[in-house]
Amino acid sequence: MKRDFLDLSSLSVGEVHGLLRLAARLKSELKSGMEHPYLRGRTLAMIFQKPSLRTRLTFETGMAQLGGHAIYLAPDDIGIGERESVKDVARNLSRWVDLIMIRTFSHATCLELAREASVPVINGLTDLLHPCQLMGDLQTLRERCHSLKELRIAFVGDGFNLAQSWIEAAALLGFELRLACPKGYEPKAEFVRCLRQLPNSILTHDPVEAVRGANVVYTDTWTSMGQEREAVKRRRDFTNFQVNASLLSKADSNAIVMHCLPAHRGEEITDEVLDGPQSVVLEQAENRLHAQKAIMLWLLRPSVLDADITPTAG
Ligand code: CP
Ligand code: NVA
Repeated sequence: MKRDFLDLSSLSVGEVHGLLRLAARLKSELKSGMEHPYLRGRTLAMIFQKPSLRTRLTFETGMAQLGGHAIYLAPDDIGIGERESVKDVARNLSRWVDLIMIRTFSHATCLELAREASVPVINGLTDLLHPCQLMGDLQTLRERCHSLKELRIAFVGDGFNLAQSWIEAAALLGFELRLACPKGYEPKAEFVRCLRQLPNSILTHDPVEAVRGANVVYTDTWTSMGQEREAVKRRRDFTNFQVNASLLSKADSNAIVMHCLPAHRGEEITDEVLDGPQSVVLEQAENRLHAQKAIMLWLLRPSVLDADITPTAG
């Protein structure tokens, strides 16, 4: 049966660690100048209903480095669910390509695409989750920190797709997650329930409480794609949730600062912190490339997590 990559909660802990090991291996092969066309002749279709810099560039570059080919479908190109039903898009694409990545609004669209496609589907961000970002972030933490399990991670900001993916990751990997958001911007109820069941993890409306003693301080935009009309109100509601030098001083002195990007400088994070010595945001952006190559390789050649791979199609 085909596998998809739609969320983290469908993965086992072993699969997450296997993917992270594979991503590290692909990164070191690339850095040493070794070519690794493990997906020669394979094609990825990328459906974007929202803008992107990192996701588009890393999937397209990653597929090229693996010897395959990626096709970018812009929001107006295929009109998924409007010009043509999700089901028909899924069934047509499955006749031509080996893999589909979708960035869309409703998570239900992503699930329907995966259900109707006979080829693996990757969630490149929905309003519910952003699992590809998490894999790049976990790779960054694996490189930077001794043990993922022992981390205290503070997420300061909107309880939206990124925060919800962090809750999935905490439930799977067992680190401490301290989430601070303004009242009215909590994650969806099922994610709040999940967070409350995790030992040591908290949901608070006080950013200082979340950040105190944290090893990682993470933030995301106050106004996500699709919420632009709420920007003024959100700027007001999130005023006390800025990651700045004062808030960061409450974290562990060796804490690192993470942001999925794009950043809205002067809103959720100051220039001083984003560009400062504790920031690892460009490592995160780089690791999207390696983590997603691992995801694509695993979906198309699942045995890759158990065995050695050779650059022959298979
Ligand atoms: N972090 C992230 O997904 O970036 P893009 O929106 O530019 O793809
Ligand atoms: N929460 C943000 C993440 C961007 C990568 C958004 O959905 O726009």
